[in-house]
Amino acid sequence: MTISWDKIYIVLMKLMDGRKVSKEILLKLKDKVSRMHFDHIHPKLAVILVGKDPASLAYIKQKQKACATTGIEWEQFDYEPSVSTEELIKKIEELNADDKIHGILVQLPLPEKVFAPNVIRAIDPKKDVDGFTAYNLGKMFISTDFEDLAPCTPLGVIRMLEHYEIPIKGQEVVIVGHSNIVGKPLAAMLVNRDATVTVCHIHTKDLASHTKRADILCVAVGKADLITADMVKEGAVVVDIGINKLDDGRLVGDVDFENVSEKASFITPVPGGTGPMTVACLMENTVAAAKRLNNLNP
Ligand code: GUN
Repeated sequence: MTISWDKIYIVLMKLMDGRKVSKEILLKLKDKVSRMHFDHIHPKLAVILVGKDPASLAYIKQKQKACATTGIEWEQFDYEPSVSTEELIKKIEELNADDKIHGILVQLPLPEKVFAPNVIRAIDPKKDVDGFTAYNLGKMFISTDFEDLAPCTPLGVIRMLEHYEIPIKGQEVVIVGHSNIVGKPLAAMLVNRDATVTVCHIHTKDLASHTKRADILCVAVGKADLITADMVKEGAVVVDIGINKLDDGRLVGDVDFENVSEKASFITPVPGGTGPMTVACLMENTVAAAKRLNNLNP
């Protein structure tokens, strides 16, 4: 199949380029970090990795690279999959008490025998740069003023919409996927910005009847080609948060990009869309946590 240059040009004009926007965020953070060095503050992220899940290793590599770009220090603690919940909690308590550590990240998923909610709960909310603790998630419900350490993927989506000057207030937003780390917090953040939000999930009846109404459609399920062109309104903004590895090794999102991009006014690619934004927002949260822990203004 051949694709015309006209079509390539039109799609490029609609792309929300996460690689480009995240680079801009990282460069601004690099500047902030070097200014923090004058106050003898060296933002530092502690990362706990259990096992060698290939996806987790790939995510961690991206995060470590972003730390190197911004000047944020990185310390990684690797554990065998046989590690106990208690052992991980003990390490987190040590990191909570360490003044040189400003952010603590436990890479998910954890092995089944580890009780992940208790591990996450052990993280000091002030160092919870993933924004996964109940305290940080709950606080977000109050207003944008309380989104101090918001979960990185939803925050990345908001930053992306802001960058492309896509209005949120009064817009019909449909989110597909109701996970605790993406769908639910993203809904809260969009409601904080006065969007009208519908959250769909695996038990939603007639998914297309909802997605077709969306001015902004955000999809975070993990199912390739879940969203086809007939499910999308002409001119909609489409944010693909899914990531799926096909049998031939290709990475794709949840949206049929080729056909949906013809109808959308803006669309994120996969890879290169929301993924790099998540990493950039993790860096943003780490710098914010380091400032707050040292009583500096954000
Ligand atoms: N696993 C997949 N995405 C994430 C993330 O954003 N943070 C952590 N800690 N683990 C993940």
